[in-house]
Amino acid sequence: MKLLVTGGAGFIGCNFIYYILAKYPADSLTCVDALTYAGNLASLERAREHANFRFYKADVANRAAIFDIFEAERPDAVIHFAAESHVDRSLMDPGIFVRTNVLGTQVLLDACRSFGNIRFHQVGTDEVYGDLPLDRPDLKFTESTPLSPSSPYSASKAAADLLALAYARTFALPATVSRCSNNYGPYQFPEKLIPVMITRALADETLPIYGKGQNVRDWLYVEDHCAALDAILRRGSIGKLYNIGGNAERSNLKVVQTLLRTLGKPENLIQYVTDRPGHDLRYAIDATKMRRELDWEPRVDFDTGLRRTVEWYLANADWWREILSGEYKSYYVRNYDAR
Ligand code: NAD
Ligand code: TYD
Repeated sequence: MKLLVTGGAGFIGCNFIYYILAKYPADSLTCVDALTYAGNLASLERAREHANFRFYKADVANRAAIFDIFEAERPDAVIHFAAESHVDRSLMDPGIFVRTNVLGTQVLLDACRSFGNIRFHQVGTDEVYGDLPLDRPDLKFTESTPLSPSSPYSASKAAADLLALAYARTFALPATVSRCSNNYGPYQFPEKLIPVMITRALADETLPIYGKGQNVRDWLYVEDHCAALDAILRRGSIGKLYNIGGNAERSNLKVVQTLLRTLGKPENLIQYVTDRPGHDLRYAIDATKMRRELDWEPRVDFDTGLRRTVEWYLANADWWREILSGEYKSYYVRNYDAR
């Protein structure tokens, strides 16, 4: 299979590339990534040693550049990770989220149609469903839960999902969509909860928890997400939607406390800061369809995954120190100093 991966220099994309290179050494992989602040060629260092791996620096919303790459590469399938992915940044600058997440997806869908109805998978998020109450643990998101996104990020991702499903229905494009819960693991950019907390705790800096830390997320180790995407890409039903989740709901406070214990750091590093506007209370995924139809289940439990993640950040301090020394500094001031 000739696979084209967008956003492969980001967190989940690079983990997916390593997953595929290990599992299907004969597959050829082309990565297309604009290398925004979140894209990092250092994350692809080992991939670039493979003869069947190629990298293009390009913006998915740039139609001419994307069509040129499709012409040169003629992929069998496209898996679309590239996105602006951070809720807090979408509150500061919604426009780039619409451009990349909506227009970028449309450009890729058009390219897939033009070059022979190429198989397309849209990597989506459970945040498109909005949130669930904290006092109804029986409720979970299913594939038929109505869309109710809260942030410009999740609204733009909902639009992208709908475009992919519309192209499948109207143009018979062989497309699928997945919606996954919060991922964690190696190579995650230190703007998301878990790597913010690991990198700051290691430096004995304060750990900014939004509101009271009672918001709940369902955590999935990134490798389990990669396995789910691989199953959908190869065995999923065309035109269909799949929810992917970790069955590991935790409040943010609980996650940070577990991390502090793992790192041997004191709880007085925690600092409660002004809440995120529109902050979703709880996400929880019902992944029955993935289990029933594709025989997929998460394999890595939260404590094991968190330990592996901490070990990775300890062993790869050069990777994240480099990030913390760049543009990240001004982002951190913009997002946290006024809180
Ligand atoms: P990330 O921010 O770590 O990486 C995004 C990548 O996309 C970066 O390499 C960046 O350079 C690239 N990119 C951004 N704009 C681009 C553009 N215009 N053209 C080409 N490349 C561009 O994101 P992530 O956490 O790896 O998420 C990947 C995908 O998975 C996203 O679509 C996200 O919505 C989805 N998702 C993420 C999570 C999560 O917990 N991280 C959960 C569910 C779904
Ligand atoms: P995040 O990793 O940004 O993912 P998402 O908002 O897409 O779920 O945040 C996860 C949770 O952690 C969310 O409830 C917001 C909270 N959070 C903090 O309390 N402090 C922080 O510094 C960050 C980045 C997130």
